[in-house]
Amino acid sequence: MPLPSRGRRWAAATIVASALLLLAACSNGPNTTFEPHSEFGRAIDDLWNLLLRLGTAVFILVEALLVYTIIKFRHREGRADPAHTHGDTRLEILWTITPAIILAFIAVPTIRTIFQTQAKASADALQVEVYGHQWWWEFRYPQYGVVTADEVYLPIGRKVNFSLRTVDVLHSFWIPQMGGKRDVIANHVNYLWFTPDSNLTASDWVGSCNEYCGTSHANMKFRAFTVPAADFERWAKHQAQPSTFGVAPAAAPAPLVHPAAQVTGPAPAPADADEGYVFPVEKMRENTVPHTPLPYDLAFDHSVTGDPMRGFQTYSKAACIGCHTIKGNPSSVGIIGPNLTHIASRHTIAAGLYPNDAEHLKAWIKDARGLKPGVVMPDFGIGEVDPVTHARITAPTGGLTDQQVADIAAYLQQLK
Ligand code: CUA
Repeated sequence: MPLPSRGRRWAAATIVASALLLLAACSNGPNTTFEPHSEFGRAIDDLWNLLLRLGTAVFILVEALLVYTIIKFRHREGRADPAHTHGDTRLEILWTITPAIILAFIAVPTIRTIFQTQAKASADALQVEVYGHQWWWEFRYPQYGVVTADEVYLPIGRKVNFSLRTVDVLHSFWIPQMGGKRDVIANHVNYLWFTPDSNLTASDWVGSCNEYCGTSHANMKFRAFTVPAADFERWAKHQAQPSTFGVAPAAAPAPLVHPAAQVTGPAPAPADADEGYVFPVEKMRENTVPHTPLPYDLAFDHSVTGDPMRGFQTYSKAACIGCHTIKGNPSSVGIIGPNLTHIASRHTIAAGLYPNDAEHLKAWIKDARGLKPGVVMPDFGIGEVDPVTHARITAPTGGLTDQQVADIAAYLQQLK
């Protein structure tokens, strides 16, 4: 019996809607894994394509058989039941062997890819130590003496080997378009390597944490910048330098008394007049620029102007130094929070949540916990109520006035 016209209209509408939905799914988001930019990403992508094709062939075959059977053997008035088959050895061998062959076709390339991507990176790879923190990322470059946070620079065409560790709970490290992802596990070092494609130009990518790790798991992002090798070297050389703002330059080192007294390890890099390389902020793509709105209109006396030198002095006596390191500032040697030595060279703060500018730095110092739920850094703005301790911040508890906050922000903005 043909479908009544209303039924047909519904069927047509359903088909069109499904087709549109399918087409909509084809547009690639900015973090798509279907456009890999490393050999690691391509290995995974090729495997995915193979499995998708095999799976599609099996799906079409099974569905065709199903539809054929439904139509051919459908109930008809007066027709006897079709014949039933029991114990057909040939059939049973066939439907045992066929899936086994299909599985072999899947297993061989899968296992090959697992071994390929789990292999140790070659020794000449760029080494980057990654530490997951609640909720930010620390990056260390032992070959360059660089410690930084939430923004990782990678040279194009050079293999990078990440060693992944956590200082607290489980996290998971992923730059979708580079390949990965890999869990960051307590008491265990995981490794991940890839080579940013040599045909890339300087590019920016979003990385993220992909293992639920507490309140601000969703706010545990980072930026990756793949840059030409020469620019990377300039970046790393500058990042390894101390930030000497406000600190009197050290006197020339005294001559060594005896060779045995010589300090081992890499020689201190020569003074760096060059400001180094930073990925141009105006080249950042729409999806890597943070757009998080401040959660509310934070009261701030905008008539005050920050003074960097006063900020340096305030910072160096405030609670800041208990958690943050600024290489070159002898007071600032804390290791709980992100290293701030070259914070002004970063484009984001708070693990990629906000842009790094005076307005957001001031808001952050004043009320970090209002800006990022659960963050370890307490509120410092006098008059703020800390959302965790519910205590009102006062000067005796280490609170800072808007002037002091503006001064510290001005100091941090000098740390290029
Ligand atoms: Cu770290 Cu989720």
